[in-house]
Amino acid sequence: MKLLETIEAVHNYVNTARRLGRSIGLVPTMGYLHAGHLSLVRKAREQNDVVIMSIFVNPTQFGPEEDFSRYPRDLERDQELAAGAEVDAIFAPPVAEMYPEGYATYVQVEGLTEVLCGASRPGHFRGVTTVVSKLFNIVQPDRAYFGQKDYQQAQVIKRMVRDLNFPVEIITVPIVREADGLAMSSRNKYLTPEQRRSALALYRALNLGAGIIKSGERRAAAVRKAMETEITAQPQTRIDYIAVSDADTLQPLEEIAGRVLLALAVWVGNTRLIDNLILEVKDDVAHYDEK
Ligand code: PAJ
Repeated sequence: MKLLETIEAVHNYVNTARRLGRSIGLVPTMGYLHAGHLSLVRKAREQNDVVIMSIFVNPTQFGPEEDFSRYPRDLERDQELAAGAEVDAIFAPPVAEMYPEGYATYVQVEGLTEVLCGASRPGHFRGVTTVVSKLFNIVQPDRAYFGQKDYQQAQVIKRMVRDLNFPVEIITVPIVREADGLAMSSRNKYLTPEQRRSALALYRALNLGAGIIKSGERRAAAVRKAMETEITAQPQTRIDYIAVSDADTLQPLEEIAGRVLLALAVWVGNTRLIDNLILEVKDDVAHYDEK
């Protein structure tokens, strides 16, 4: 496996692959890899000749009060995990390679970024779409892989690709969970044992909400209320948002119908965790992946 740290090195690597007629899959990450990231690699490995993973803790997607400086980093460990998953090359640039002196250009998707995580993290998606645009231009992949864990992020990127005509196919991959249901996240490392127990309430609340819908409840407010009760019963939790939304537009629903996104963001101690579940309400029957 190659470690590439400059844009020029990526260009050389990719040009060679292209000359040999190889397809390229890109897996963008911020590192501190876990099985969720590796499931994206597995999918990319199935569908492409060459798999490139980027590892870059992107400063422009963190707010001034957020955890950019303390975000977990361990490139050596990441290299071992990536090599084990048969990644061909890692692109891990220093910040100045991506944002040199005088950097001034940003990509912004409107609408979809103004709700859910976008409402509580102003500027976050602008940073995400900017860095992902740069990665697409640098690597020029045929396909790029994103997790449903960050459902809104994947929707925003699909919209950006459509609107700006990036010649990249966006593939989304299901959420990978710990055995007890906690969605894997690099930020889980921040949790104390008590907080780790409280964090299980996120997935419980999603399943509770889905179960209530399955039993016939169609009022979004009633579903949100039940989920809220489940979360607030746990120590050290503070709700950022609980949303019952249209899975395509991400707009809040009053009456539940069609493809529905249950999503939540909860502070557990000083750590903000997110999780979500998609349901399909069709002919008044609710379908979702029950666990
Ligand atoms: P990061 O949080 O490192 O996540 C990288 C990719 O892994 C994202 O597409 C995310 O949705 C996916 N992922 C994370 N946890 C997952 C899980 N438990 N199951 C499945 N997929 C999971 O998301 C980012 O980095 C950044 O915003 C990035 C897109 C790299 C831009 O900087």
